[in-house]
Amino acid sequence: MLHFLVFVCLQLISISAASIRGRLDIGLSNITGATLSRTHFRLNQIGNYSNEVGYTATSHLKNTLGDFEFQDMPLNHGTNETTYFVLALGSLDFNLKPNRILCEFINIDENGTEYQFNAYKNIFGKEFFPSPDITFPEKLESVETEPFIPISLVNRAPLRLYYQQQNKGLFTGGPFARLLDTTWKQAIAVTFVALLALPVLLEKFDPETAQAIKEEKLKKQREKYQIE
Ligand SMILES: *[C@@H]1O[C@H](CO)[C@@H](O)[C@H](O)[C@H]1NC(C)=O
Ligand SMILES: *[C@@H]1O[C@H](CO)[C@@H](O)[C@H](O)[C@H]1NC(C)=O
Ligand SMILES: *[C@@H]1O[C@H](CO)[C@@H](O)[C@H](O)[C@H]1NC(C)=O
Ligand SMILES: *[C@@H]1O[C@H](CO)[C@@H](O)[C@H](O)[C@H]1NC(C)=O
Repeated sequence: MLHFLVFVCLQLISISAASIRGRLDIGLSNITGATLSRTHFRLNQIGNYSNEVGYTATSHLKNTLGDFEFQDMPLNHGTNETTYFVLALGSLDFNLKPNRILCEFINIDENGTEYQFNAYKNIFGKEFFPSPDITFPEKLESVETEPFIPISLVNRAPLRLYYQQQNKGLFTGGPFARLLDTTWKQAIAVTFVALLALPVLLEKFDPETAQAIKEEKLKKQREKYQIE
């Protein structure tokens, strides 16, 4: 019996506190610690409210599943009264979609212990929501709220577009690459390299001839110095 009462109380409590739950889904890759700290959610009360200053709060991702939430927001007093909040999403890593959400709470009872919760996404590219008291407000598209508001990515800015290879190889960039553009130039280059490499190769495959050439060179040098 006591168990049952506690259960009922918990149910009542969880219903009566105005709260917003959301989940960020970044697709195939997992959320990492860096994304956790570089993503934030800001909630600002707008429209009519009884307090002097509107409610405002900031929240972060709670876990790597991408969950975030706001709890215990004050609701305006009175049956059928509406309370509005704007949820703004920001991330250093991603462009989030939607990036502004209008949260609407409509009191079912006098104190707002029970309420209806609706959420609408902003028109893409527009930061502000149309006020409901203008004559022809733009129609907003509602978003799912149960069990949470789903947030996804506009698209991940592909890193490779901004990445430029800095240390290009000798033959993949710069003057050498241009030199090697055409086949006849390539042939010249290959010959040139072969000439440079010849003594080394010679020494490898025919040490005796290489030795002879070296000695010949030394002899010539010695003769040169003797003449001088
Ligand atoms: C994401 O995390 C899950 C569970 O921690 C793991 O099984 C999966 O391999 C991860 N995926 C990537 C792309 O890191
Ligand atoms: C704000 O309050 C005024 C007067 O009570 C009402 O006419 C108006 O519709 C309310 N605006 C909103 C957005 O609830
Ligand atoms: C609240 O709205 C319902 C349905 O629109 C209406 O029947 C009821 O009279 C309203 N209550 C108040 C106090 O305005
Ligand atoms: C609303 O709150 C007031 C004061 O806290 C209380 O007297 C009243 O009974 C409550 N109304 C409902 C419908 O819960």
